[in-house]
Amino acid sequence: MDGRDWGLFLQPYEQAVEELKVKFKTMRTELKLREAYAPIEFVTGRTKRISSILEKAKRLGVASDQLDTGIEDIAGIRIMCQFVDDIHRVAGLIRTRRDLQLVYEKDYITNYKDSGYRSYHIIVKYPVQTALGYKDVLAEIQIRTLAMNFWATIEHSLNYKFKESLPDDVRIRLKKAAEAAFHLDTEMTSIRQEILDAQTEFEEQSNVVSRALNGIQDLYFYNRVREAAQFQMKFNELFEQEDYPGLNGLATDIGISISKAKRSGQS
Ligand code: GTP
Ligand code: MG
Repeated sequence: MDGRDWGLFLQPYEQAVEELKVKFKTMRTELKLREAYAPIEFVTGRTKRISSILEKAKRLGVASDQLDTGIEDIAGIRIMCQFVDDIHRVAGLIRTRRDLQLVYEKDYITNYKDSGYRSYHIIVKYPVQTALGYKDVLAEIQIRTLAMNFWATIEHSLNYKFKESLPDDVRIRLKKAAEAAFHLDTEMTSIRQEILDAQTEFEEQSNVVSRALNGIQDLYFYNRVREAAQFQMKFNELFEQEDYPGLNGLATDIGISISKAKRSGQS
């Protein structure tokens, strides 16, 4: 281990991180173009520091010539999302990719850690083209919401600074803070759903209005002037009362009248 050229060892991992960052940033751009909303907010990546690799190898009992299989997060990618649903969407997109291979997944959202930590982890095998040929490297992709990331970033820096010396009451408060962050995610999801529902309702209402008014126009076209005028009066009344079920019924009645008018026009 002592004689190891760390620069050379880390090179394929650095390449994997750079390539994967580009690929997920591209995924964000593409989805934004297609759907006007991207389930990815931003992407970061890093290779593990040498000291952390050595520390983890020691902790897990990984031999120095087994680092590439024994430590799965030497290459690490983080994908931040606005909503919890987006995490599952992104995980689904990763599963169907052909430029990487799934090794396993860890759902720390359903099974959140004792610390309070939440995230979705996917360990993948990613092939990098080196000067000497293909090399598969392991990479850890962490997918989380902005709130989960906020919590994890601060918890990590506190733990890093104070190591094992975090007092119990602080740990408990951090865990409570994690619950609060998750509550924020849940609340944002339900607010978003309400907005989406309101949008659908608005669209349905505009549809029913244009269906009725177009129908009345058609009746004038078929010379059903009196009927058309009656429907128009009824329309004004229902529209005034914002009675959308009523307007829906009216649109249906108008449709029936148009069919009759068409039939009598043919005979
Ligand atoms: P390490 O925790 O990395 O030593 O590896 P592990 O093999 O135990 O994997 P695990 O799935 O537990 O954690 C992988 C990564 O998730 C870590 O490197 C962190 O980035 C993140 N993580 C896991 N638990 C916590 C936590 O309690 N707090 C924070 N801030 N991050 C965590
Ligand atoms: Mg761990």
